[in-house]
Amino acid sequence: MTWSRRAILGSGLALAACERDAHSQPAPAAGPIAPLKSLAPFPIGTCAQVSHLDDPAWVQLARTHCSQLTPEWEMKMEYIVQPDGSFRFDRPDRLAGFARANGMRLYGTTLVWYSQKPDAFVNLDESRVSFAKAFDNYIAAVVGRYRGAAGWDVVNEAVAEDGDGWRESLWATKLGAFDHMVRAFDRAHAADPNATLFINDYNLEWLPKKLDTFLRLVERLLDAGAPVSGLGCQTHLAADLPSGAMERTLRQLARFGLPIHVSELDVSLTLSEKPFASARASTEAQARVYAETAQAFLALPRRQQFALTLWGLRDKDSWLRGKNAQDDPALFDDTGRPKATAQAFAQALSGGLYENASGRL
Ligand code: G3I
Repeated sequence: MTWSRRAILGSGLALAACERDAHSQPAPAAGPIAPLKSLAPFPIGTCAQVSHLDDPAWVQLARTHCSQLTPEWEMKMEYIVQPDGSFRFDRPDRLAGFARANGMRLYGTTLVWYSQKPDAFVNLDESRVSFAKAFDNYIAAVVGRYRGAAGWDVVNEAVAEDGDGWRESLWATKLGAFDHMVRAFDRAHAADPNATLFINDYNLEWLPKKLDTFLRLVERLLDAGAPVSGLGCQTHLAADLPSGAMERTLRQLARFGLPIHVSELDVSLTLSEKPFASARASTEAQARVYAETAQAFLALPRRQQFALTLWGLRDKDSWLRGKNAQDDPALFDDTGRPKATAQAFAQALSGGLYENASGRL
């Protein structure tokens, strides 16, 4: 996934944000919070890597707060598909086993993604097996192996960032821009008829044209009879997200009556395009965005609240740290202590209105 306009602008400003008053104190850490999975009427998920399973502090945090687990990258083509076309499942099996052993639903991401095209597919000897057959075999093998998973991101990030149509991809080139998506959903449904099958994308809350194109794609897939049974809103946010944006976005996504997955929630401090006056102001804004996201999700009809997944429990677990070491996008700090933003999120989950120092949201 590229951050395009926000990344370019955000990273430039991020340095400015990082140079903000180093002596200003961010919001004080919060006291203990109740288990998030006990506060929410829907599953609270987290992404996970095998390395997390060997970290007792992470394991305790995940067991305490989460009831769903998404392999962060080891259930994707980049890990499973070997150069010779064989599949390896050691790490995804371990992650699936951890979820099962800890009463967590397993959620799989992702089957078809423009940004992953393993050599085995690029260099496929089609005199031996057709591309379509190899595509079908992959989906059947992965979804079939983890049959019983709560759901899958079947198609990930299909919409162009500017909202002008759909992304180019190896899959689109070989199997058709629209037809490859229908095929992926059909194959996934055949492999596990009980799994909820999602189309997932990001910046839907930020780019109205992208959201509109996403919604039109969903409509076209449904009209074509594709077994799309859920919509994923990745929800990689920044602390300067305008108030009301999540509520408006989720309301539009809910129009089809399908389950909604806030699938990859994090709230960057350093990708904000508006520099904050102080560290405390930025962490308060972050808390408001987390709280508003929880409240917007709670406002969905219960049957459409599939799950809300945190993309990194602790700041140091976040992919965003690889973009900016100063970013603190998660609910828990590097030691696993809940931050003030976790307090706000927990308060919102339990139906309370988040009250920051300057009053309500
Ligand atoms: O852990 C290995 C390390 O041992 C090895 O030396 C290194 C170099 O090969 O790779 C490390 O694994 C990397 C892994 O992240 C852990 O850091 C993988 O190469 C890298 O591809 C993987 O990136 C993941 C990325 O998706 C691509 O799969 C990120 O963790 C993950 O957060 C990110 O998640 C995406 C969602 O799937 C879609 N939405 C955007 C989101 C953020 O980009």
